[in-house]
Amino acid sequence: MLKAVCLFAIASFAFIQTGGAESREAEQVRETGRIAAGALMTALLPALTDALEAEGPAHAVDVCSEKAMDLTGSSIRHLADVSDIRRISEKTRNPANRPDTGDLTMLKQFQRRLPDTGPESLIRWIEHEDGRREAVYYQGLYIQPMCLPCHGADDQRPESVNAILRERYPDDEAVGYQPGDFRGAIRVVVTVKE
Ligand code: HEC
Repeated sequence: MLKAVCLFAIASFAFIQTGGAESREAEQVRETGRIAAGALMTALLPALTDALEAEGPAHAVDVCSEKAMDLTGSSIRHLADVSDIRRISEKTRNPANRPDTGDLTMLKQFQRRLPDTGPESLIRWIEHEDGRREAVYYQGLYIQPMCLPCHGADDQRPESVNAILRERYPDDEAVGYQPGDFRGAIRVVVTVKE
């Protein structure tokens, strides 16, 4: 009887330890992902707002296309564990931002519209053949009124913006959104140390 109790105690201890270690790892990934995504948004949003106010939506398109990648790079340079950060969506403006099959499964788990309850962020684990493990952190992006001149319905986008979009993004699918709509996610790849 005593032996059985001890075995039970050891078994539960092992289980709790594993569970604890896993969730700590996930917590660290979530924290790193949140910092990286936050750095991108703090760099991108004010640059976008300034350009929209100072030069109008047509010029601000450059901020979202050319400067977004520079800002993305500089926002993670100080984070040693982050190997990649970018924005993805099921309906893309730039086909380079399309999700892969694993990303798609995750995007489908976000809520379609605010203010429904649903995950703010999600984590996917990838095991590579050489034994390396990576975690992919996804943070949901929702449409705000300031996104509408470039991602809103036809009558919300100025003709000057449409002209640029037609020229630069002939396969644009990223229009017709309303405030609160799910737009996509910031995708952060975090290297997990063993
Ligand atoms: C001034 C125009 C403009 C505004 C305002 C704007 N965007 Fe964009 N957005 C773009 C352009 C241009 C791209 C394509 C960037 C590229 O080439 O990678 C883009 C791409 C994206 C992408 C990447 C997926 C894709 O479609 O290629 C997401 C996600 C996104 N925008 C979300 C937002 C959100 C959320 C807001 C509001 C907070 C917003 N955008 C405001 C012009 C804009």
